[in-house]
Amino acid sequence: MSDCRTGCGDDARHVAPSSSGLAAWLAPHVRFEQLLEKHRIALMQLDLPVAQRALEEFAQALREHIALEEQWILPRYAELEAPPGGALALFTGEHQKLLEFVRRFERALRTLAAEGPAHRKVLPLLDQQATFKNLLEHHDARERNLLYPTLEKQLSAAEQQTLCDALR
Ligand SMILES: [Fe+2]
Ligand SMILES: [Fe+2]
Repeated sequence: MSDCRTGCGDDARHVAPSSSGLAAWLAPHVRFEQLLEKHRIALMQLDLPVAQRALEEFAQALREHIALEEQWILPRYAELEAPPGGALALFTGEHQKLLEFVRRFERALRTLAAEGPAHRKVLPLLDQQATFKNLLEHHDARERNLLYPTLEKQLSAAEQQTLCDALR
């Protein structure tokens, strides 16, 4: 059981999208998981060039997605009636935390590149990334279960399409 109100407990992450619309809103999240996994596997293998490239791609994709959500999605969401656990500040607060983690990872990769990678140096970074992955999953659940369903309930199909297009 989870005490969190994002719907991020054991069952919620496996709830199938209610429609192809929900999957479309969340498509960028799938890419984040893939790039983060590529980065972490390369880190475990001490393959720093691949780890760095994957982190760069991941960081760019995450920053762009967050910027688009804050430019297009969240201002419109703020005008709607938010469900319990769906206060605007929770979304923007999680965005800030995610971006702080990414900056920390970028600094850690620069240090590894300067000092040379070693397993004992990579392990603490992988631990931090496990915390980060949890936060990313919480954020995905909050958007999957609260943000995008609210837009789908309260906005016209045409406006939903416009906003969804803005995310690509
Ligand atoms: Fe998102
Ligand atoms: Fe987000």
